[in-house]
Amino acid sequence: MRRSVLAAASALAIAGASLAQAGPQAEVLHWWTSGGEAKSVAVLQQEFSANGGTWTDMPVAGGGGDAAMTALRARVLSGNAPTAVQLKGPAIQEWYEEGVLANISAVAEAEGWDKVLPASIAAHMKCEGQWCAAPVNVHRVDWLWANAEILKANGIEMPTSWDEFNAAADKLQAAGVIPLAHGGQAWQDATVFEVVALGILGADGFQQAFVDLDPAMLASDKMVAVFDQMRKMRGYVDSNFPGRDWNLATSMVMNGEAAFQIMGDWAKGEFLAAGKVPGQDFLCASAPGAGFLYNVDSFAMFDVAGDDKQDGQALLAKLIVGQNFQKVFNLNKGSIPARVDVPMEEFDSCAHLSAADMTSSSKDGTLLPSYAHGMAMRGAQSGAITDVVTAHFNSDMSSKDAVAMLVDAVANSL
Ligand code: BGC
Repeated sequence: MRRSVLAAASALAIAGASLAQAGPQAEVLHWWTSGGEAKSVAVLQQEFSANGGTWTDMPVAGGGGDAAMTALRARVLSGNAPTAVQLKGPAIQEWYEEGVLANISAVAEAEGWDKVLPASIAAHMKCEGQWCAAPVNVHRVDWLWANAEILKANGIEMPTSWDEFNAAADKLQAAGVIPLAHGGQAWQDATVFEVVALGILGADGFQQAFVDLDPAMLASDKMVAVFDQMRKMRGYVDSNFPGRDWNLATSMVMNGEAAFQIMGDWAKGEFLAAGKVPGQDFLCASAPGAGFLYNVDSFAMFDVAGDDKQDGQALLAKLIVGQNFQKVFNLNKGSIPARVDVPMEEFDSCAHLSAADMTSSSKDGTLLPSYAHGMAMRGAQSGAITDVVTAHFNSDMSSKDAVAMLVDAVANSL
C-alpha cells in the first residue's frame, strides 16, 4: 500500500517536473516543403530547439501557399489556431481585423526592430501601430534563371528585352530545347504575368495597375501587349506543364531539359541545395524591364492561451529577426535578409545583385510589391486578377477579351 502511494507520488512528481520543464512551445504552419525550402526552415527549427523550444511542424505543401492558407482558415474557424503562421502582405492586416492575431510589440521593442528594418518592410509588419508579424527575408520575384551551358551552346546571351527573350526562345525551340520551364498552377501563371507586366508596363504602369487598381491602366493598350506576351510564353512551355510544381520546373533548367525559368529567388534555393553554382551552372538576371518586385516572407503569431505557447511565440519572433538567423536562413533560401545590418560577404552574386537593385529601386521609386505573392493587395482582388490570367493562359482567349475580363473582375472584387 505504502509502496504504491509512494510510486504514485513519484510518478506525479515526474509528470509535474516534465510539465514545468515544457518550456516554449510552437506549432508552426508553413509551406516550405521543397528541397531548398526545407533546408531553410530547418535552420529556424534548430535555433528554436537550441534555445529550449519544442517545435511542432505543420507543413502544408503547395507553392505560393494557397493550400496553407486554406488549412489556416480551417484551423482558425475551428477555434484551434496554430501558434505561428507563415503569413505575409495585406493578409496580415486582414487576419488582424478578424481579431485573431497576437501583439508582438514587446519583443519588437526590446529587440529594436525599428532600427534594423527598412521602413517599407516594417510597415507590412504593423497593424494599427502595433507589431503583428516578424519578417524573415526579401525575395525578389522578377528574375530570369537560365541553364548556362544551354545558352552557351546555342550562342545566346541573357535577354535584356522581351523581344530578345522571344528571339532566344524561338532559336531554342528550333534547336529542340524547351525554352521555358513552367508549372501550370494559377500562382505560377500569375508570377510570370506580373514579371511580364513589370517589363511592359514599366514601374509606374505596374503601380497604377496592380497597386492602385486604376481602371484606365487595367484597360490600356499596354495591358493588351502584356497578354500578347503571355500568349507567346504559352507557346514556349512544354505540353506537360499543367499542374507541375515550381521546383520540378527548376529541376528542368538544372538538368538541361529547359533553358529558362521565370520565378522568384526561392528557385535559387533549389539550385544551391542541388550543389549548383551561380554564374557557372546557372545564370540569374533581373527579367527585362526596370524595377524590383519584392515579396517579404513573415510569420504572424495567433492569439493562443498558455504561457508555454506565448513564450514560444516570443522566442520565435526574437530568433526570426535575429542577425544570425537572417544570415543563415537566407543563404539557404535564395533571398536576402530583411535586416539591413547583416554581413553580406558569404552571399553569392545573385544576392548581391538583388541587394544593389533593391537599394537603387527604393531610391528611384521602382521598388514595388508583388501582386502574385500577396504583397500588393487584398486576397479578393489578387484572386480576381489571377483567375483572368489563368483563364487566358489556358485557352485561346484574345488579349482584348482578357483585358475586358480583367477590368470587370477587378471592379466586381472591390
Ligand atoms: C514564398 C516563398 C516560397 C514560394 C514557393 C512564395 O510565395 O514567399 O517563401 O518559397 O512561395 O512556395
